[in-house]
Amino acid sequence: MKFETLAIHAGQEPDPNNGAVMTPVYFTSTYMQDGVGKPRQGYEYSRTKNPTRKALEDCLAALEGGSFGLALSSGLAAADTVLRLMDKDAHVLAGNDVYGGTFRLFDKVLRRFGLDFDFVDTTDPESVAEALTPRTRLVWLETPTNPYLRVTDIRAVAEVVHAHANHPLLVVDNTFATPYLQRPLELGADIVVHSMTKYLGGHSDVVSGALVVKDQALYEKLAFLQNAVGAVPGPMDCFLVLRGIKTLPVRMDRHAENAAAILALLENHPKVERLMYPHHPSHPQIKVAKQQMKSGGGIVCFIVKGGQKSSHKLVESTKIFTLAESLGGVESLIEVPAAMTHLSTAGSQMEVDPGLIRLSVGIENKDDLVQDLEQALAKA
Ligand SMILES: Cc1ncc(COP(=O)(O)O)c(C=O)c1O
Repeated sequence: MKFETLAIHAGQEPDPNNGAVMTPVYFTSTYMQDGVGKPRQGYEYSRTKNPTRKALEDCLAALEGGSFGLALSSGLAAADTVLRLMDKDAHVLAGNDVYGGTFRLFDKVLRRFGLDFDFVDTTDPESVAEALTPRTRLVWLETPTNPYLRVTDIRAVAEVVHAHANHPLLVVDNTFATPYLQRPLELGADIVVHSMTKYLGGHSDVVSGALVVKDQALYEKLAFLQNAVGAVPGPMDCFLVLRGIKTLPVRMDRHAENAAAILALLENHPKVERLMYPHHPSHPQIKVAKQQMKSGGGIVCFIVKGGQKSSHKLVESTKIFTLAESLGGVESLIEVPAAMTHLSTAGSQMEVDPGLIRLSVGIENKDDLVQDLEQALAKA
């Protein structure tokens, strides 16, 4: 089946008891057993397994071209679960432009448990090769990155990482691209991570995360952690994401179409210092972006002239773009990462330009969006 069909049907059969077409929300923490240690259909306790969550996990596996999916309570819970595969003193190599919360988890929390992190420019596979050490067990990259939208050649980095004697795991955060645009497992990644809070959910009404893998042994280790640590989403959250995923392809096409209209406004605008978008001719990694991403997606970033004062004025002047954190919903959002989502990177090597503005271009009418941004730029 093709992606659009899988998005609607994978993991989801009409209910065998009554024919319900939509996956029921199984609000249950426990399940009747037919005898001691004889659970029906393998369900014992909902931290371990829940039918609504199972439908979502199977759907995610199909969409990413993997074999197993795991739903977690947030994108960061998914990241934390992956890092718990590591033993004390392991070295982890991560991109130097990852989401601020991922950086905070690595730098401020997991370092305290004896993990060692280095942050490098993953857009250059040579830098990754040079930074691998005999203790490196995991390489973490995000592509496109949040917020600079830098693009890493997943296949090239996978070759470098898998050639290393330790066989570190290659993890790709696919939140910005979604499996509709980019499928990291097919390019050599071992684990795909998602904040499903974003495009997969698609309606800014749920916080959730996911992991997808191909390898059964790796899946079993992660499923053990999912249950042992317990950062699982509730059944309603799983239902909301499942419902959101059904429209992922149409939403992503419309996000990209609207982003193109916004780019046309910004590319020659006198107040724009720099534009960032994976499929824009000015993007330094456009060749790789075109190879591994079906479209440039729905996030557009730019640096407005005049620094912080100007960026704050602009984001406070829009009427349709809502000033808010997060991204990937049907509604357009605008924010200043340096002062909002990426505040935790202040003073670090990952500090963000105070004039950088991130747009999550929604699926409203594109002319309305362009007009809104135009009037806000005039005020900046
Ligand atoms: C690329 C990326 N990864 C991970 C996360 C964390 O996800 P969550 O907020 O669901 O914990 C985010 C959140 O903004 C993100 O943008």
